Amino acid sequence: MSNPYKSVPVRSYEITPKETYLSRRDFIKAAGVVAGSAALAACAPAEEESSAASAQTFPALSDELGNPANAYEEITSYNNYYEFSTNKEAVAPLSKGFTTSPWTLEVTGMVGKPQTFGIEDLLAMFPQEDRIYRLRCVEAWSMVIPWNGFPLASLLKAVEPTLDAKYVRFETVYRPEEMKGQGSAFYPWPYQEGLRLDEAMNDLTLLATGVYGETILPQNGAPIRLVAPWKYGFKSIKSIVKIELTDEQPNTLWKTVASNEYGFYANVNPNVDHPRWSQASERRIGELSRRETLMFNGYGEQVADLYADMDLSLNF
Ligand code: MTE
Repeated sequence: MSNPYKSVPVRSYEITPKETYLSRRDFIKAAGVVAGSAALAACAPAEEESSAASAQTFPALSDELGNPANAYEEITSYNNYYEFSTNKEAVAPLSKGFTTSPWTLEVTGMVGKPQTFGIEDLLAMFPQEDRIYRLRCVEAWSMVIPWNGFPLASLLKAVEPTLDAKYVRFETVYRPEEMKGQGSAFYPWPYQEGLRLDEAMNDLTLLATGVYGETILPQNGAPIRLVAPWKYGFKSIKSIVKIELTDEQPNTLWKTVASNEYGFYANVNPNVDHPRWSQASERRIGELSRRETLMFNGYGEQVADLYADMDLSLNF
């Protein structure tokens, strides 16, 4: 594929100028003005700024298809995060105060240079980019989210996968004293997910550390979470502490719970229904009428080649 990124115009490769991150409000304004070119998230706004974020005015952003981004309020108050609650509206209050610092991310397994990174190391090593992505939950609701983060590929390249590595396994923190949902014996904690190595290396695949230029909040997977926007949202694992490269397809929490409903690939596919509901359309949070769901969530140009040899009617 020639240029896999051209239909995702809101992105940047530049480090935020100091003048910009000194004033969060100015940054947000700037992001609105230059959407589509070079706005970039600062890494770590002060704590008070994050909590004051809901009182701020955010820019009117839209994705490359012209869909308006969801409001910051919507993105941070309607969440799936079973470690805290199965009630989407309860996640934000229950995760408030969740300890995200200090935080380390271990990258291990079939790599030449296994390493454990502090979150601040990752922010310093990899320039933060802006990516406005559609998020399509397997439950048939969706949002458009302006993420800040860096490509997973940048991190993987730094640890040098060996020639045998074929998959990447991700693990969420296990901390039942802070995450009451982990007390439920029904789920095999910690939450685990996986990607094929070529999926992980695709430039769409992001490790997100911010939303709308604000440090990511616990309900969205602070301090670092995966975003693979052509897959159902459950693949985008939150609050990651471990990444392991392997030569075997990793087990995933949802496959363990219901393998007939939640497959390893889980590519968004309007033609393959969930056993209990249709996947042909979706409810965009904030909109009244339903929208048609797009194959690969609209990212086919960037990812369809990855599945050229697969029967997509079986690819749930
Ligand atoms: N990651 C963990 N650790 N635990 C979860 O329950 N839920 C997933 C995914 N990542 C989940 C998770 C699901 S089902 C979705 S749709 C998205 O997170 C929701 O992300 P959001 O709350 O930031 O919109």
